[in-house]
Amino acid sequence: MSVTPDGCPVDLYLELPAAGEPEVIHGAIPPGAAVLELGCGTGRMTHPLLALGHSVVAVDESAETLAHVRGAETVCARIDELQLDRRGPAVGVRGPPGGR
Ligand SMILES: C[S@@+](CC[C@H](N)C(=O)[O-])C[C@H]1O[C@@H](n2cnc3c(N)ncnc32)[C@H](O)[C@@H]1O
Repeated sequence: MSVTPDGCPVDLYLELPAAGEPEVIHGAIPPGAAVLELGCGTGRMTHPLLALGHSVVAVDESAETLAHVRGAETVCARIDELQLDRRGPAVGVRGPPGGR
């Protein structure tokens, strides 16, 4: 079984559905707001956010998880070393506790 550097089992996250978090985020930010998702994993929250009309820049240090993300701009980087070299409207979303 493959795991991310912080110990997340990739196959498990592929099977886990979102549990209402994307709708909570969607309800808290302007319609269509761009989302910067830090520690996106396999896209468990990315894909529903896209379906709710948000563009998403999906960041993760694991190339293996990012390979499962569809429809978002993906950036393979550690959060503390992220260099997007641009500014713009975005709402940052961090993954659940356990990420470093
Ligand atoms: C617990 S998983 C959650 C994934 C996703 N947010 C979700 O809810 O399904 C944490 C993810 O954050 C990533 N991650 C943890 N620390 C990171 C860091 N410092 N920089 C980039 N990615 C990180 C891991 O590779 C993993 O994919």
